[in-house]
Amino acid sequence: MDKQKIIFSGIKPSGEMHIGHYIGAISQWVDMQKKYNCIFSIVDYHAITVKQDPEILRKRILEIAKIYLAAGIDPKKSIIFQQSAIPAHTELAWILNCYGARIADLNKMTQFKDKAGKNQESVSVGLYDYPVLMAADILLYDTDIVPVGEDQKQHVELARDIAKRFNNEFGEVFKTPQAMIKKEGARIMSLLDPQKKMSKSEHNQNNSIALLDDLEVARKKIMRAITDSGTTIEYDPENKPALSNLLTIYALLGNREIPRLVKDYQGKGYGEFKKDLAEVVVKFLANFQNKYNSISDDEVFKILEAGKEKMLKISEEKMKKLRKLIGVR
Ligand code: TYM
Repeated sequence: MDKQKIIFSGIKPSGEMHIGHYIGAISQWVDMQKKYNCIFSIVDYHAITVKQDPEILRKRILEIAKIYLAAGIDPKKSIIFQQSAIPAHTELAWILNCYGARIADLNKMTQFKDKAGKNQESVSVGLYDYPVLMAADILLYDTDIVPVGEDQKQHVELARDIAKRFNNEFGEVFKTPQAMIKKEGARIMSLLDPQKKMSKSEHNQNNSIALLDDLEVARKKIMRAITDSGTTIEYDPENKPALSNLLTIYALLGNREIPRLVKDYQGKGYGEFKKDLAEVVVKFLANFQNKYNSISDDEVFKILEAGKEKMLKISEEKMKKLRKLIGVR
């Protein structure tokens, strides 16, 4: 038991939440609550780095909070809060912009390059500066461990670099956090293209299974998922990336071991495998959605309000020290 360690992670309400978010991030959080001091945020200021419809954004913030709860995040054990409710996040991001963050670092961020594509000159400054706000989220609370999917590893490393640079100048102010990434399921791939990660911004919704998908729609998506050439069920991410991705989903949502699954499907075809996988996914979603639907908006508002009260206190303490250190107070 290491109750002293602080865990921080978050999800941005910028699209439909899918099983990749659950497998890569939230399922780890649920396990960590037993051992650590956990803080989970709905990082809404990250969502507005790309255009959002205000009504839909408001709805999604609530939806993500409910998804955390339905997945098993327990507000008695963990703190759940909305990033924009705590002004210290953006205040610290500004300080880190000036001390610690370098343009050369931000130019290396692969997520920015992917998202901006050829339009690097015309996207918002916010999209470019996104990793510094993420560093502020993490460093503000003296976080030790950041449980995330693989795509966020580079951002957590940047937070470490920023912390070290700041500490070099001002002394031991920030802890240097570490990313925690699952061995299996850290990168769930698209059902239509196993070279791309399953993503909420992808236009073709058949690429992903949303946590709130209609059950029969989800079943169809699995049956339509592409497979590799050949006929045997094997786990081989190099040569059978599509099948290996489906095996990973099967194992992690169905609570099975991959080698055992491979053994059980010896001599059986892709059709039978996908039919069973669809059943596993539908069962998981039905259970998840039952819990989701039992949570009221009021319950969520109360939990977010309690989280806000706690985080306002903790963050203000840190900010007081920081403002003094840099000389603005
Ligand atoms: P976001 O909202 O894109 O994703 C939330 C979490 O889900 C993981 N994830 C996946 N894991 C496996 N397979 C996938 N296909 C997949 N897609 C997404 C992500 O790795 C992430 O852990 N920048 C962050 C949000 C953030 C944050 C933070 C995270 C802001 N501040 C501070 C940790 C700490 C993001 O955009 O995640």
